[in-house]
Amino acid sequence: MGALKFSSEFIERVRESTNIVDIISSQTQLKRSGPNRLMGLCPFHMEKTPSFSVSEDKQMYHCFGCKRAGNVFTFIQETQGLSFPETVEYLAQKAGIPIPKESRLNQSQEADQDQKKVQEKLKFRINQFAAQYFQVQLRSAPIKVAEYLKARRIEPETIEKFQLGYASGEWESLVGTMQRKGIPLAEAESLGLIRSRGAGKSGHFDMFRDRLMFPIFSPTGQVLGFGGRILGEGQPKYLNSPESEVFHKGRVFYGLHESAKHIRLDDQVIVVEGYMDFLALYQAGFKSVVATLGTALTAEHARLLKRFTKNVIVLFDGDSAGQEAAERSLPILLSEGLTPRGLILPSELDPDEFIQENGPEALREALKSAPELFVMVFERHLKGYRESAAEKVALIDKLSPWLKSARDERLRDLYVSEVAERLRVEPDWVYRALEGARTRHEPPKGTSVSSSLVEGGRKVAVAAKAELIDLKGAPRSELYLLNVALMKDEYYQQVKASGVTAQLSHPGVRRAFERFEQLYLQLPNKFDSLSSLLVVEVAPAEAVGLHLQPPLVDLTVEGAVKLISDCIRKIQEVHLRTESKKLRSSLKGQDPESQREKLEQIMNIHRSRHFLTKDS
Ligand code: CTP
Ligand code: MN
Repeated sequence: MGALKFSSEFIERVRESTNIVDIISSQTQLKRSGPNRLMGLCPFHMEKTPSFSVSEDKQMYHCFGCKRAGNVFTFIQETQGLSFPETVEYLAQKAGIPIPKESRLNQSQEADQDQKKVQEKLKFRINQFAAQYFQVQLRSAPIKVAEYLKARRIEPETIEKFQLGYASGEWESLVGTMQRKGIPLAEAESLGLIRSRGAGKSGHFDMFRDRLMFPIFSPTGQVLGFGGRILGEGQPKYLNSPESEVFHKGRVFYGLHESAKHIRLDDQVIVVEGYMDFLALYQAGFKSVVATLGTALTAEHARLLKRFTKNVIVLFDGDSAGQEAAERSLPILLSEGLTPRGLILPSELDPDEFIQENGPEALREALKSAPELFVMVFERHLKGYRESAAEKVALIDKLSPWLKSARDERLRDLYVSEVAERLRVEPDWVYRALEGARTRHEPPKGTSVSSSLVEGGRKVAVAAKAELIDLKGAPRSELYLLNVALMKDEYYQQVKASGVTAQLSHPGVRRAFERFEQLYLQLPNKFDSLSSLLVVEVAPAEAVGLHLQPPLVDLTVEGAVKLISDCIRKIQEVHLRTESKKLRSSLKGQDPESQREKLEQIMNIHRSRHFLTKDS
């Protein structure tokens, strides 16, 4: 394989900005079958019942049927028939990440880009053009615009940074300019910037007139759409670009392109509801903030945030609409495994007004003591609670869906004790109330790892990796141990702490663990991405995809802990047996003194083996 075209940082950046679920969904229909797992018909082989599973948190896929496994790169390579560098380039373009100059593809390949991508690019360019146009307009806007901005205390640097603009009050201002520049008006119309005058009439007119313009950027800086605020009072207060192929309100946050780095650094994000709230917070120094676009928080939003941090503070308006929105966001955030806290501002203020009235310090204090969102919502439902049995039952019915949605079991347990305490019931009573829909899955004993693991070794062409780690013929206990370790950081820690990795019999599994530890050290706090990196370095890839499928994927924490200790026991047993065999064969032809020493060692091994089997 030739030299690497891209730096590993660049490749990692591309991988991180790409969601495997979106990529695979465009080729096969996926249905959610667990909090982080989707199933569909395998795109690699013909089948009638779905056996292709995709893990969202691990960013991997694995097929039961044809035993293929991999990450987003191998998926594109195999389905589109691209080389690895082409795949990186393709995904980079899709994610809007600029490609380092020296590694651009040649012109003929560039010309090959499909129609849709070209069209998408054109749309972004038109939006970009409009954003610049509005920005220029702001500089020569009527005095009332500057007055409005001043009244709202929006500073010049903020205007600059977020490229705020102004759409003039004229009907054909943007249209006229676009025409002169030869911009295809039909495209501009599909973006909601202009509209045709309709039947019988010719020409177009501007959609945004006499409004303060907020361009909405993708995380990589493309202009996806606009929000336009009326100056002062009037209806509608905001006019927004319509949904289109390039603009999905349920997937986009206002401001994320600027705040992402702060969110990562602070390991926390504040979610607000409005453009103005966003700007007020950012300006006041709360830079790890995003705003929804006037729509409810979606699961896609939550997944997007999860790429940056787990700690989410929902900061909504103090009115009842704000409180309800906060409540609706609770199960969405919990089921993505996030740790949500909540803050409702007093006297129905919105975050912007709160800062203007009380200053940033007051907000900082309030944020510091923001309660768990669960507790906040719970408290709200406790208003007027008189401790009757009927109320307890009604309350637990209300709370159950939220408690069940918590993917992080530690969090859920804490909430359960909170509820038990406040309702003055036993935690067990709460758990029993939750049991209804819950079924616990223990790993079926003796489920065999498919035998085709042994023969189906498929070489995955990836980056210029010297050679793949060979996992063929690995014993089941070692493969299972590896796969459980890939599931959760805490499992991995447990395996490491046991010291069993030094006793693995299979050299490939040993190397896989070593490689995993390297990746782990290189990318701290990104445990979930590690298996998708490892999967492309082993053969067969499927050997590290086992944790995406039953029985492993259904393991409870207790189940996993049990499986880990079972595997460890088995591995230690095999290890001791081989050691003693080795010693015995070396006994022959030795002097009596060292024979005695070795016999002693053998006795010890036997004692350990006895100990191991005894307490199983
Ligand atoms: N919104 C909208 N259309 C409206 C009202 C609101 O799209 N007619 C969206 C906007 O994204 C807005 C958000 O909902 O930012 C929150 O609404 P609101 O709190 O009313 O707006 P603010 O950002 O607080 O704006 P302002 O302070 O100027 O009222
Ligand atoms: Mn406001």
